[in-house]
Amino acid sequence: MKKVLALLLALTMVFALVACGNKDDGKGNDPQTPNTDQDQQTPTDDKPSNTEAKTYKVGVSIYQFNDNFMTLYRNELEAYFKTLETDTVKYQVSIQDGKNDMSEQTNQINNFITQGVDLIICNPVQTSSADTLIDLAMNAGIPMVLINREPLGVDADGNTLDEAYPGIINNPTVCYVGADARQSGTYQGEIVRDLDNKGDMNGDGKVSYVMIIGDPENPDAQYRTEYSIKALTDAGIEVEELTAQIGNWDTNQGQQIAQNALTQYGDKIDVIFCNNDGMALGAAAAIEQAGRKVGEDILLLGVDALEDCQKMIKEGTMTGTVLNDHVGQSHKAVDVAVQLLNGETIDNYYWVDYVKVDANYFK
Ligand code: BGC
Repeated sequence: MKKVLALLLALTMVFALVACGNKDDGKGNDPQTPNTDQDQQTPTDDKPSNTEAKTYKVGVSIYQFNDNFMTLYRNELEAYFKTLETDTVKYQVSIQDGKNDMSEQTNQINNFITQGVDLIICNPVQTSSADTLIDLAMNAGIPMVLINREPLGVDADGNTLDEAYPGIINNPTVCYVGADARQSGTYQGEIVRDLDNKGDMNGDGKVSYVMIIGDPENPDAQYRTEYSIKALTDAGIEVEELTAQIGNWDTNQGQQIAQNALTQYGDKIDVIFCNNDGMALGAAAAIEQAGRKVGEDILLLGVDALEDCQKMIKEGTMTGTVLNDHVGQSHKAVDVAVQLLNGETIDNYYWVDYVKVDANYFK
C-alpha cells in the first residue's frame, strides 16, 4: 500500500512539473520539452505571418513637375522611400503632377482619399488653400506631411504669423517640413554685403538692384525678396530698387525680365537678385547677351545651388547662390511619414538649414 501511494505521489509530482514547465516556457523555446500550448506557432487569422509584407500606400502631390528644384526633390523622395523597404514593409508611392493648378491638386487629394492611401505628402499649389487640403485629409483620417511651401497664418490684423499655422499646430497628424526662407534671403544679401565694394559695382554710392520674384503667393518668394535686402540695409548699405517683377520660378521668364531691365536701366544695375536658380539661369543668359560681366560690372544671385549654378560660381559667371537642401528635406519628409505610419507622435515643424554658396565655398 505504501509503495502504491509513493508511486502515485511521484507520478503526480512528475505531471505537475511537466505542466509548470510548459507554462513558464509557453513559447516552446525549450527544445527538451514538447510544447502542447494552444499559442504555438500555428498561424492565426489576426496575426500576420512573419513573411507577409505590409504595404503602405502613400499619395504625393507636387505643385508642378515642371520645376527644376521640385524635380530633384521628388526624385530623391521616391528613391529614399525605396531604400527604407524591407522584406516585411513596402511603400507604394504614387506621385502626381499638380500642374500648378489648385483644382487639379484638390482632385488628386480627393482621389488619394477614395483610393484609401495611408498617408499624403503635399506640396501645395497655393498655400492659401492649405486649410482645404488639410481638412480633406483630416476628415478622412489620413495623416498629411506638407512640404516646400509653408502655409502662413495671419492674425486678426492681417499680420503674418511666423511658424504657427493653426491647421498645422492644431492637428497632431499634420506637419510641415521645409527650410526657413528668411535664412536663404539673408544669405543672398550677406554674400553681397561681404564683397569688398559691398555690391556697389558702378561706384555711385548705393546698391541698385533688380529683384526677380518667384511667385508672390509663396512665402519662399516673399521672404527671399525681403530678407536679401534687409541683410544689406542692416549693414548700413544704401539700396535702390530699380524694378521687382514676377518670374514664376521659371528660366524663360527670368531671362525676359532681366533682358528688359538691362535694356531699361543699363549700367545703373549693380545686382540682379533672383528668388531661385532657375530664374538666375535665365538672367545669366540675358547678362551675357547684354555684354555685361558678372563680377566685373554686375552681380547675380540665386537660391537652390543647382549643379549648373555651382559650376557658374566656380567659373565666376554667377556671384552666389544658397543651397536648398532637397536631399535633407525629402529624407526628413519621408522619415516623418514613416513615423506617422507607425502611429508615432510627431512635431508640427521640421526645419532643414540652407547653406551659403559663393566662391569661398569651393576654396
Ligand atoms: C525653390 C524654387 C522652387 C520652389 C517651388 C523653392 O524653395 O527655391 O526653385 O521653384 O521652391 O515651390
